[in-house]
Amino acid sequence: MIEKLSKNWNLSAEITKLHERGLYRSMPEVSGFPGRVVCLQGQTVLNFSSNNYLGMAGHPEVLEAFSQAVWTQGAGSTASRLIAGNCTGHRELEDFIAIWKGTEASLVFGSGYQANIGIITSLTDTEDLIISDELNHASIIDGCRLSRAKTWVYPHLDLDAVEKALKNQKPRRKLVVTESVFSMDGDHAPLTQLFGLCRQYGAALVVDEAHATGVYGPRGEGLCAKLGITPDVQMGTLGKAVGVSGAYVAGSRSLVKLLVNSARSFIFTTAPPPSVSVAALKSLEIIASEEGEKRRERLSMNAEIMSEMMSAILPRRNFTCHINPIPIGRSDLTMMASNACLNKGLFVQGIRFPSVKENAGRLRLTIMSDHTLDDLKDASEVIKSVILEGNMG
Ligand SMILES: Cc1ncc(COP(=O)(O)O)c(C=O)c1O
Repeated sequence: MIEKLSKNWNLSAEITKLHERGLYRSMPEVSGFPGRVVCLQGQTVLNFSSNNYLGMAGHPEVLEAFSQAVWTQGAGSTASRLIAGNCTGHRELEDFIAIWKGTEASLVFGSGYQANIGIITSLTDTEDLIISDELNHASIIDGCRLSRAKTWVYPHLDLDAVEKALKNQKPRRKLVVTESVFSMDGDHAPLTQLFGLCRQYGAALVVDEAHATGVYGPRGEGLCAKLGITPDVQMGTLGKAVGVSGAYVAGSRSLVKLLVNSARSFIFTTAPPPSVSVAALKSLEIIASEEGEKRRERLSMNAEIMSEMMSAILPRRNFTCHINPIPIGRSDLTMMASNACLNKGLFVQGIRFPSVKENAGRLRLTIMSDHTLDDLKDASEVIKSVILEGNMG
């Protein structure tokens, strides 16, 4: 059977092709805590490749809440929440998120991928138009595809193109979807203007706050809160700055009721273990507190310091965010640069097609609040040696 599958599909030829195009991916083994330093394939390296922006994945209070909840609420949720019932851990997390985000209600999904698919497929179908930024995450793209709605992809951040689509197209309903902080570029969507356009033309606005949750806003609520806007649908993840796993959708009570009844990625999957929600809630409570504020300040300060250090290496780049792309181009060169950094003790992942456009490969340097000044200096020295001086060994 295995023989037959590989003969009919020629799996090894497909894998060879990936190698030839510099697109073959593998998963280096990481052990221990996902902190500012990690043990990768047995080597201790500086970690600039994590979305654990605020260091919450190793926070003692989060770990304690997690382990306590396993003993009180069990290891798993055993089925979809519609079958096995709603675990207290999920309900308490959703209550908190709704208050924190200032929305009527919220709903927790197993992952951001599932949340985006669930939102978009529940809100649109063949008679509708989705207007989507060209650099939106794969989960948004897949949601658009699954919805079977007409999807109008606009050039990155191009408000004129959005307005043109809103003005000229006459579908039954229009939905604009964007990330707030773009995952591979670190730049920000013009949310205030998009919000205004959506109001003007009667469209719904869906904002993916995956990389802004915890990082922006007075209590870490995200970029929408920082800008003082409340779009129709806000989604964010719990596995990045929050340091645990899963995702939330925040919006009206009707939105949540609709998702519970129609989002197939919510209905037809086992709910996350309740302990995950308990840990995420503890993390969010800290993120919303004074301690969270201090962590955000340290993150922002580290981003600024790194920006100054990198300006000598890449003068035209303006790094001010926790996500910094270092452009390389070709996929094979991108991975060579990433491996060269690793050999010098710096883990900074190479990002290639299809995560970014073809020949737009880059190193994605992510900053954490826990990075020390020495970490930042060491990382920038390695980048300088690899990128500026071409030391690929
Ligand atoms: C912008 C964006 N949206 C959604 C997701 C999916 O979230 P998750 O990893 O929880 O599935 C990610 C990252 O993976 C992301 O970067």
